[in-house]
Amino acid sequence: MTDKKATLSITGLNDPIDLPVLSGTVGPDVLDVRALAGNGYFTYDPGFVSTASCESKITYIDGDAGVLLHRGYPIDVLAKESDYLETCYLLLHGELPSKAEYTEFVDIITNHTMVHESIARFFRGFHYDSHPMAMMCGIVGALSAFYHDSLDISDPRHRIISAHRLIAKMPTLAAMCYKHSQGQPFMYPDNDLGYSENFLHMMFGTPCNDPYVNPVIARAMDRIFLLHADHEQNASTSTVRLAGSSGANPFACIAAGIATLWGPAHGGANEAVLEMLEEIGDEKNIDQFVARAKDKSDPFRLMGFGHRVYKNFDPRSKVMKETCDEVLAELGLENDPLLRIAKRLEQIALEDEYFIEKKLYPNVDFYSGIIMKAIGIPTDMFTVIFATGRTVGWIAHWHEMITDGYKIGRPRQLYKGYAKRDFVTRDDRPAVNPTNF
Ligand code: SDX
Repeated sequence: MTDKKATLSITGLNDPIDLPVLSGTVGPDVLDVRALAGNGYFTYDPGFVSTASCESKITYIDGDAGVLLHRGYPIDVLAKESDYLETCYLLLHGELPSKAEYTEFVDIITNHTMVHESIARFFRGFHYDSHPMAMMCGIVGALSAFYHDSLDISDPRHRIISAHRLIAKMPTLAAMCYKHSQGQPFMYPDNDLGYSENFLHMMFGTPCNDPYVNPVIARAMDRIFLLHADHEQNASTSTVRLAGSSGANPFACIAAGIATLWGPAHGGANEAVLEMLEEIGDEKNIDQFVARAKDKSDPFRLMGFGHRVYKNFDPRSKVMKETCDEVLAELGLENDPLLRIAKRLEQIALEDEYFIEKKLYPNVDFYSGIIMKAIGIPTDMFTVIFATGRTVGWIAHWHEMITDGYKIGRPRQLYKGYAKRDFVTRDDRPAVNPTNF
């Protein structure tokens, strides 16, 4: 317990309220405000800008220093030295695996990559041009209809098998979304391939030909999954925790995370970045888009810039930019027009007073879309890729919440509606003429 405290004096309250100050391993201290409710007060913090919702040991972000640690390891070191499945093990279990543990984990995941054949029929209910994120929301939520054997969230064995199934099956389901949109047959996973190589095989292989997966491209895909693996209490992870706090099964919680990630302010930004670059179309148009981003009367924002926590470079975007250069060089696309626009836009934005003052730097979504487009992944699949990588973070936080003990999440509000009023019969009511939507 801590001996640091804050003392809150409130006009009209006889005694001040002592609020314990709690410290983490690193990062800002927090005020424990749980005593407020007993004194008839709530905190008010729309968007949770100043609110810590939980304790966690999984990921730490220092937004000012541009640092991202997974279980204490810097993201750039993991991107260079590790791979996605090893990072999954680290996020789930808290330590890097031994060689034998790594081999066993890869074997477990590899042997859970297939999905029930009825899932294939489930896809046939979607029109061919359904957005892949709409399909993923539905399909992942429906997985709980198939795995009745592992839905007891109080059983650690059920929790870990659900985690393995989700990590293993997300690439298969993601590729199925793409194949359905192309009118092509689904490709089964190939257990002789690595995780990311297998994903590209299921995306771009067909029963008629199974193209060789370029190892540089497979490594880039693996790095994209790794860079998206977890990011502490972002909107979608907070959604997964909130859904899990009601006791919902892991597949339903992950489906809720997918739905939240879809928004353009969050995981949908990578798709929005490509659409923005294509709308800019030429370097000569950049200035007018930067001017629009600064214009308060214009809702346009520079997609791929800014972050709630990072007020410095997002360390993931630095690695993503290096990967982008590697992929485009490998594919002979160094002069890709969109890349040229992106690099020029980044340079202009980073020199512009508005972006400097508001500390708006490129985030993880700024370069990832250019890599995925170069690989041949359509823009409407970008957020599906983000969701595939982020699944391990979601399930690690869900598991941590249950293991550490939790209460159902139930925020309060500042009520600004009518106080109690009398009912008026329909004959005596004036027209409403609603205008509040
Ligand atoms: C992700 O939380 C996470 O960790 C998320 C994520 C993860 O891994 O899970 O990192 C992934 O979601 C990355 C962010 C992807 N989104 C985008 O690239 C969309 C564009 N960026 C924004 O809309 C915005 O920057 C947010 C949503 C990312 C952050 O918004 P905040 O923290 O609520 O900040 P804000 O909207 O209050 O902005 C502060 C100021 C505002 O101006 P003022 O009202 O103070 O005058 O900066 C301005 C904003 O208008 N601003 C921008 C801008 N982003 C913020 N102006 C122009 N272009 C932008 N991109």
